[in-house]
Amino acid sequence: MAERARVAILISGRGSNMAALIYAARADDCPFEIALITGDKPDAPGLSLAEAEGVAVQRLDAKSLGKSFWDQLQDALQAADVDVVALAGFMRIIPAAFVEQWAGRMINVHPSLLPKYKGLNTHRDAIAAGDKQAGCSVHLVTAEVDDGPVLGQVPVAILPGDTPETLAERVLIAEHQLYPRVLADFVARETGVEWITAKVGELALALPQASAKTSHGSPGWRVGSESSGKFFAIMFNRHHGEDSVGVLVKCGGQDEMAQLIEAEPDIYFRPAYYGPSDWIGIRLDRRGVDWDHVGGWLERSWGICAPPRLAKLHRVAEEF
Ligand code: GAR
Repeated sequence: MAERARVAILISGRGSNMAALIYAARADDCPFEIALITGDKPDAPGLSLAEAEGVAVQRLDAKSLGKSFWDQLQDALQAADVDVVALAGFMRIIPAAFVEQWAGRMINVHPSLLPKYKGLNTHRDAIAAGDKQAGCSVHLVTAEVDDGPVLGQVPVAILPGDTPETLAERVLIAEHQLYPRVLADFVARETGVEWITAKVGELALALPQASAKTSHGSPGWRVGSESSGKFFAIMFNRHHGEDSVGVLVKCGGQDEMAQLIEAEPDIYFRPAYYGPSDWIGIRLDRRGVDWDHVGGWLERSWGICAPPRLAKLHRVAEEF
């Protein structure tokens, strides 16, 4: 299994969703681990539960810290080497600048079927509207409150005689089911072969005269014409003795390859199947892949394989 994603959970109160995530992370095949529990209220009951469960806790007090709260929170998240932030009953409006730092990497659970009933009092409003169903949503956090793309939902029936409290209780059961599952899918996505292939394809096809073509059953990308084009990138997926997913690109030769593999053996490797060639393997089912760096490798490999005239034109264009 690929390395687990490191998740921080932010809470303000009871922390029952936090608990659901902590217990889900105890499964051997769970793709995330809980790196830190923190929030805006130092006496939130959930923090004591997290401590008792042996999870790292940082108690921050938004009230006394004022504006510097967000900087301290960011420092704590970075110190814990966090990949994804999961909000679980974190009842504070998040400034746009903070959201931006975690764009695409921060998710939230909300007790309604979004886009219905954003904000507070969701259960009261659903009952008052005469809805037959309430429910919960997990969504990506954007600067607008409770507004980001929905990643998953569970509907919950509203019963005759339900009060906001009785409904909230049942919705909470649904939240505890939904949140761990959606978070697992969310973090696993980036180490899945489909997502990685799509991402490499996007970068490869952005290069001039690049086209997609399968090479011995693996997705690959070529530069040049249909008849004389050359492969500059080929995906590999746990085959030929490798246990990971990544891309093969051309490097500058055997010496460079040996140096890279020695310096960063977790990233680079020599693809056994290709014998003494200039193809080097870059693993991509790891945490924190730097996609600009991968894009740089694709461009360089493209430059090695492109017809000299095209490669030169591209170099000149890039200088402007
Ligand atoms: C949960 O119902 C959660 O969906 C809600 O607060 C409760 C926290 O409970 N969150 C929001 O309303 C966010 N807008 P918990 O602390 O026991 O997880």
